[in-house]
Amino acid sequence: MLQKRVFSGIQPSGNLHIGNYIGAIKQWVAIQQDHDCFFCIVDLHAITVPQDPKILSEKIKELTALYIACGIDPKKSVIFVQSDNLDHPALAWILDCISSMGQLSRMTQYKTKSGKTKGQSSVGLFNYPVLMAADILLYQTDEVPVGEDQKQHVELARDLAEKFNSRFGEIFKVPEVKMFKIGARIMSLRDPSSKMSKSDKDAGGTIDLLDSAKDIVKKIKSATTDSGKEILFRPDKEAISNLLTIYSHFSGTEIKKLEQKYQGKDYKKFKEGLADVVTEGLEPIRKEYRRIRSDETYLSKVLKDGLRKAEEISGKTLEEVYKAVGLG
Ligand code: TYM
Repeated sequence: MLQKRVFSGIQPSGNLHIGNYIGAIKQWVAIQQDHDCFFCIVDLHAITVPQDPKILSEKIKELTALYIACGIDPKKSVIFVQSDNLDHPALAWILDCISSMGQLSRMTQYKTKSGKTKGQSSVGLFNYPVLMAADILLYQTDEVPVGEDQKQHVELARDLAEKFNSRFGEIFKVPEVKMFKIGARIMSLRDPSSKMSKSDKDAGGTIDLLDSAKDIVKKIKSATTDSGKEILFRPDKEAISNLLTIYSHFSGTEIKKLEQKYQGKDYKKFKEGLADVVTEGLEPIRKEYRRIRSDETYLSKVLKDGLRKAEEISGKTLEEVYKAVGLG
């Protein structure tokens, strides 16, 4: 039986944190066992906001090594860099021409990010979800495993696929979004009402995958808690619910069981347990990262092989698109 196709990606900007790990990468590692997976380093998305060129090129290698260190197996999954495959911007342009300004200006992430720059944000930032749709549709993707903040963008990709198909013929598969029921939105440790984010100016709000054990313990110790003492997963306890979610993902223990384990115990005990499972979970990733990152030849080979496999599929789709639209 043909395996379902999966596509997803992460921007090589900022530091990868446990929100990215739980929301996206943990899903990828599980899904790669019996799916045909493409995991991209989406550097063209990263430049929609200003980046330092030297840091960006370093971050691309860092993210490649981190994908592998987290358990993405290049023998099972295709790993490649978006800007190496020019089919992505080519399809994005064609999709631009059927996208409406109105729909793009309603994208929540665009409104949040552009709102901070007072009219100075780039056209690329506005166009960002269309490039993401191109990423997904080029591979005739069945499933897109992401965190909750990307759901609206995957819905746009579905809309664009349907719009294109009804205008030019059945070319694109209409993709489905895939998210964890719990863990699709990990919140900041400092402010549990806002999402854990790479661009958070307060380093205490995120746990990065490459943080030292000492830093992790410190950040968890100083994480915000709720009033009261109980360790319960409840809407009125958003800080503790967030910490329970992280605990559950790192320990593989159900939230109900964790609530029982910490019944009658205080926040201090709970945070100690949480710090233990997070440091234990990230230690092997950090170690493996160091090993892989130092082998530049291996990393280049992974990306070169990945690009070849990616282009095989994307080139075929783009050719059909050109024909359908009447180009070339
Ligand atoms: P990016 O780089 O912002 O985030 C990468 C992945 O991490 C998830 N994520 C989270 N999940 C749970 N809790 C959080 N606090 C959290 N923060 C981030 C994101 O949902 C995402 O899955 N536009 C995308 C990258 C992209 C893409 C694609 C994804 C480009 N093309 C095609 C899927 C398919 C982005 O900026 O993700």
